Amino acid sequence: MGIKKIGVLTSGGDAPGMNAAVRAVVRTALNKGVEVVGIVGGYTGLINGEIVDFNLRSVSEIIHRGGTVLYSSRCPEFKTEEGIMKAVETCKKHGIDGIVTIGGDGTFRGARDLSLHGVPCVGIPATIDNDIASTDYTIGFDTAMNTVMEMVDRLRDTAQSHARCSVVEVMGRGAGYLALRTGIAVGAVSILVPEVEYNVDEIVERMLKTKKTGKKHFIIVVAEGIGKVKYIAKEIEDKTGIETRATVLGHVQRGGRPTVRDRVMASRMGYAAVELLVQGVGNRVISFTDNKIVDFDIYEALSMERKFDYDLYRIAHEISI
Ligand code: ADP
Ligand code: F6P
Repeated sequence: MGIKKIGVLTSGGDAPGMNAAVRAVVRTALNKGVEVVGIVGGYTGLINGEIVDFNLRSVSEIIHRGGTVLYSSRCPEFKTEEGIMKAVETCKKHGIDGIVTIGGDGTFRGARDLSLHGVPCVGIPATIDNDIASTDYTIGFDTAMNTVMEMVDRLRDTAQSHARCSVVEVMGRGAGYLALRTGIAVGAVSILVPEVEYNVDEIVERMLKTKKTGKKHFIIVVAEGIGKVKYIAKEIEDKTGIETRATVLGHVQRGGRPTVRDRVMASRMGYAAVELLVQGVGNRVISFTDNKIVDFDIYEALSMERKFDYDLYRIAHEISI
């Protein structure tokens, strides 16, 4: 039996470029003579049967928009057997033969479970955290990095004017990828990430040393996985005598128009996902590895170990004096 109709959903934390991926999925499927439906609100929508028919024009005017027009959710019910069975029922009722699931590794776990229950799924990595082991890149990361950079550039203006230290918390869940890249880009004196132990006294020492060379303001980037920026800022202020302010950037990092990189990556990944599904291949995730779009078995992908770029961390540390 060939694939006649596929569904597409976005799940977990939204990421800029998800819309471009949805557009690519819809256009590729229709081009190949396969019907497409949108599943509204991630796995919650699948459980509740919130399905919309898509045509070529349904995804017009979305490639440049942040967020996801399909809405997203975190759906605890989907982690239960009952939830999965409801989702399978929705697929049967609407004749959905396979699903492209766009999201992070939680979303991939859901896709794995659904594939196990007879609905082939192909996952597309999309999260601003870039924390999926099976891919070098996740949709949304570039846009988020650029947003963080712009925000911290603004903080730098005011930190510079007052000769202050600015301690900035950036997102990333348990991972420090967003913090590391943006920390380098904004010239942070220190970057605190969950992957590397830190010592406030060592940061203080570096600050005082560079102050002696004429440095007047400081930026410290702290990954969300470390947190407690207010506490860190207070400790730094007390120990250096340099006035220090803490800022949590928060959800501004998740919004905004996707960059070229995110739109192109989303378009390529969306295309690749549908190519697999129409061949009847499921239980796969799309990946960008060694500059190529490839795919992996979901089980294999989920068992891979994340790698942190310690070399880049070391470089950041060495040049921030
Ligand atoms: P992300 O996809 O960004 O990692 P979440 O971790 O919130 O975001 O996962 C998105 C959704 O995927 C969850 O709300 C849940 O419905 C589903 N999911 C997450 N983990 C699992 C799991 N272990 N088994 C089945 N489904 C899961
Ligand atoms: O996974 C994306 C992300 O923005 C993380 O960086 C952050 O930890 C989390 O989602 C925040 O989730 P919520 O939007 O539910 O507050």
